[in-house]
Amino acid sequence: MSRVIDIRYVGYAVPDLEAERAFYLDQWKLKLVAEEDGLTYLATEGHDELYAVRLRQADVKRVDVVALAAATRADVDALHDKVVASGCQVIFAPRELESLGGGYGFRFFNPDGMTMEISADVERGTARALEPREAIPVKISHVVFHSPQHKEITQWFIDVLGFGLSDWIGDFMSLIHCNTAHHRIAFLPGPPCLNHVAYDMPNVDEMMRGLKRLRRGGNDTLWGPGRHTAGDNTFSYFVTPAGFPVEYTAELEEIDPATWVPRTFQPAPDIMDQWGIGVGGPQTMPKPAPDAGLFQAAGV
Ligand SMILES: [Fe+2]
Repeated sequence: MSRVIDIRYVGYAVPDLEAERAFYLDQWKLKLVAEEDGLTYLATEGHDELYAVRLRQADVKRVDVVALAAATRADVDALHDKVVASGCQVIFAPRELESLGGGYGFRFFNPDGMTMEISADVERGTARALEPREAIPVKISHVVFHSPQHKEITQWFIDVLGFGLSDWIGDFMSLIHCNTAHHRIAFLPGPPCLNHVAYDMPNVDEMMRGLKRLRRGGNDTLWGPGRHTAGDNTFSYFVTPAGFPVEYTAELEEIDPATWVPRTFQPAPDIMDQWGIGVGGPQTMPKPAPDAGLFQAAGV
């Protein structure tokens, strides 16, 4: 079955490009890949995805695109047909992509109006083995959305894009997988928008050293450090200058999608955070508001 196999990158428009760029380079520790046509491309050092973040300047912040990977061009075509059949609006049908790294893909509005891209054959970047004590991100780990129809859109991602259900926390948070990582996408109730984008750190020690750098750089932890139960990953949430929440995570559970049996955890403080010694909580995360780009193609 044709399905999505990973997350590629998240494109953002921000009102202060220089501040956002400096945060990702100097604090978060992504690397600069290219700057062309008003777009800044940033990648993780530890993975060969050509870029993980794409930034541009705009008056109002918004998410431009969340890009997902398919294995082949035939999978891109098949997923396009399934997206169309599901009733979603296509922004452009499968074609040779003109964005950095090329490839073959299409864009559409998901049922909430968030712009998504699915592509294959995109040029690979460079990756290197991180040194011990090098507290920088390896790759994007997962993307979490709010949705006013979080149960329905979870099922849409399963039925149309081929994700598998990993777990529910009560009936308010779903976590879904598209490879052996316990979750690559998750949904919470709320207006359509991003909740956060998480980055895998090499291990828990490097996550903690990364927190030290961020805090010394003047970035307060919104919530954490702690360890979730669904996925068993450690977490620590921060916010970019534009107000987009980001997470350093580590030790996300590996699963066998062929044999995985979804669980439902009862919501409780010790389920949300096994450690219980960090600052903040879900209540200290930014209040979700509808993304400014719903059902509006960014054009880039
Ligand atoms: Fe997360």
